[in-house]
Amino acid sequence: MIKFFLDTASTKDILEWSKHNLVNGVTTNPILLGKENSDPIKVLKSICKLVKGPVSAQVTEKKFEKMVKQGLNLAKLHKNIIIKIPCNLEGLKAAKILKKKKININVTLGFNPAQIVAFANLDVDYFSLILGKTEDWGFSNIDSIKSCKNIIKNMRSDTKLLVASIRNEDHLEKAIINGADVITVPPTTWDLIYKNKYSDMGLKSFFE
Ligand code: E4P
Repeated sequence: MIKFFLDTASTKDILEWSKHNLVNGVTTNPILLGKENSDPIKVLKSICKLVKGPVSAQVTEKKFEKMVKQGLNLAKLHKNIIIKIPCNLEGLKAAKILKKKKININVTLGFNPAQIVAFANLDVDYFSLILGKTEDWGFSNIDSIKSCKNIIKNMRSDTKLLVASIRNEDHLEKAIINGADVITVPPTTWDLIYKNKYSDMGLKSFFE
């Protein structure tokens, strides 16, 4: 079954969207935590109390030794914490060490299927393919979802494909039909989907 995570650090949004069974886990990032105007560690602890599934917490260090230290500290917050590691060579070194220490890992800001290879070799828990952000930067990688899935499958890796930065209906649809294991959706996108103007227009005509 595909799992849906909520891409947020807002406990209010987590409570709201949990009512609709759309919160199998949560992904946070430094920007989302910054929006909460509170101590990020406190926010992460509150999120872990509300959610039964994995909660991603991102390292902010740039060198692998410091990433490992920060990751180990974040992992101590709760058993469901998944450490978000950057999709680069420092992240690769950190992932290898953290994996040996049995820490769960989500590799983030993946843009190209080829980036999966070394992380899939390590069997990291999740590889995040970022869709919407690419469009901010003038290109699209929406056709890469299937390749990512096939690379993981052909490498016989246990890594799960997590599709992220879901900004609209098209991103969600393509993630589902092309084989994402997990899709992390921000509350604003669920709002956009279920406040469809044509559904509203049709309903209005029935009421009239
Ligand atoms: C996923 O884990 C990230 O939080 C997500 O990619 C951020 O996406 P955005 O750039 O669309 O906010």
